[in-house]
Amino acid sequence: MKKWFAVIGDPISHSKSPAMHNAWYKEMNVDATYIPIHVEPANLHQAVTSLKLLGASGWNVTIPHKEAILPLLDELDEQAQKMGAVNTVVKTAAGKYKGYNTDGAGFVRSLEDMIGPAHKDKLVLLIGAGGAARGIAFALLAEGYQHITIANRTLAKAEAIVEQLGCGQAISLQEAENNLQKFAIFIQTTPAGMTSGTLDLPFSLDKLPQGAIAADIVYNPLMTPFLQAAESKGATIVNGLGMFVHQGAIAYNYWLGHYPNTSSTIAELTAQLK
Ligand code: ATR
Repeated sequence: MKKWFAVIGDPISHSKSPAMHNAWYKEMNVDATYIPIHVEPANLHQAVTSLKLLGASGWNVTIPHKEAILPLLDELDEQAQKMGAVNTVVKTAAGKYKGYNTDGAGFVRSLEDMIGPAHKDKLVLLIGAGGAARGIAFALLAEGYQHITIANRTLAKAEAIVEQLGCGQAISLQEAENNLQKFAIFIQTTPAGMTSGTLDLPFSLDKLPQGAIAADIVYNPLMTPFLQAAESKGATIVNGLGMFVHQGAIAYNYWLGHYPNTSSTIAELTAQLK
């Protein structure tokens, strides 16, 4: 039987997931389809009930449903439970719907695509303490990164993640700015620099150390103000596109049991977004 997948969110029309997944099915000769479904928050419960009833093979979950969907699922992966957010739902062999989170792992894959896996002992500065930062912090830890510091405008939110992680430290943005030279990998997770936003950089990168690695989770624009500032200081930069493609690829792998070709997808989307 033909498999079908979806992405639910509000808004949803801008999502690049349907084109990406459908291109992978075509390339890999998989008899499946992937559709965008606009679900407003008030309708989430009914939408999930319907997806289950109609027998979806799985679906992705995007803003604003990643947290609210947790109690509506039959099972939760341990990492997703800890992160408190789900972006991928998988129909299990037993017909249950299980929630996973592939965002953080997608980020780490994207980072390691660019810099390799040999930097796990370096000091990481995570900027921001929202849902995205929490997912990345858990994934970094799971992948063996040992030194994670979280800087946030609201210190209490950074402290809460550190407590949940059971390691690392929380600092203010000012402390981060004053101590930039201590870190090697900088990960920007605030909305600063998104096309629709008007935010400035969370802080100045004037004292960025030599050989820094700077990553942003935003991919539209590909060059955020953070990455521009980091590149002008000689940093190796990692834009958010790889994270987007790998979170989708990890979901695809959960659903279909093999990893799709991510490098050609990243190249195509880069050309579109330039
Ligand atoms: P997401 O779940 O996508 O990560 P979020 O939960 O809204 O988004 O988190 C956004 C993050 O960006 C937060 O860390 C937020 O800081 P606060 O916790 O202090 O709110 C941060 N952020 C948003 N706007 C910012 C700004 N102008 N300067 C600095 N940090 C900002």
